[in-house]
Amino acid sequence: MRGIILSGGSGTRLKPLTKITSKQLLPIYNRPMIYYPLNTLIKAGIKEIMIIVAPERAGDYLNLLGSGKEFGVKFTYEIQDKPEGLAQAFIIAENFIDEEDVAMILGDNIFEDDFSKEIKNFTGGAKIFAKQVPDPERFGVVKFSRDMQAEKIVEKPTKFLSDYAVTGLYVYDNRVIKVAQEIKPSSRGELEITDVNNWYLEKGELKVAMVKGEWLDAGTFDSLLKAQLFARDKLSDKMVI
Ligand code: DAU
Repeated sequence: MRGIILSGGSGTRLKPLTKITSKQLLPIYNRPMIYYPLNTLIKAGIKEIMIIVAPERAGDYLNLLGSGKEFGVKFTYEIQDKPEGLAQAFIIAENFIDEEDVAMILGDNIFEDDFSKEIKNFTGGAKIFAKQVPDPERFGVVKFSRDMQAEKIVEKPTKFLSDYAVTGLYVYDNRVIKVAQEIKPSSRGELEITDVNNWYLEKGELKVAMVKGEWLDAGTFDSLLKAQLFARDKLSDKMVI
């Protein structure tokens, strides 16, 4: 299993904090934000990790994280010229993924759970992780049937559909490279991860597991503050990096 941390984008919602640095390098209590998703991948046993960053911030990431030796893993860096969608990561990382399966985590997503079992037991298709939230309109959401089978996934629905948000950890088999190459940009001009997930869903090959512990997307001022307190009170002693 290869790992990807998607850590590009322009952090517009957090300006002026992100005027001179990347959102995913902002402090979350006593560590830079990216340490948390990195910790999730490393704890899950992933040893080869690609870090995808925006061109103007690449040097900062290299200075901060280096080769990965310090963490017992190997980092590879790639640049995403423009934030053209989460699914673009699989096109950028084509050679790195090679013939393997791949787990991708977003650089601003903070999880309490340990995903080692989910990653080790992955046997193909796609696996995503959902969590009930009070503000589903901020996320991709998954609608379940009465017997809790995933029926469809919609990116930021304007009308209430479900309060199960799709979190920023995704596991796919090697076909994801082809799928990402074939989907078309959405009306907002991005290659949507939701379209990748729906491709697997339509084939009956998408599994949705529930996130049990806390999950935060630290992309707004309020969630950033919440993440700081959560990291101090609950995460500090669970970190391996
Ligand atoms: O956090 C989970 C949510 O992440 C999911 O529920 C949504 O389905 C998914 O689309 C995504 O929604 P966001 O609105 O949070 O996406 P955002 O554009 O904020 O990007 C998420 C992170 O990925 C952010 O840290 C910036 C980075 N990014 C984003 C894009 C579009 C990139 O590195 N490159 C990109 O092209």
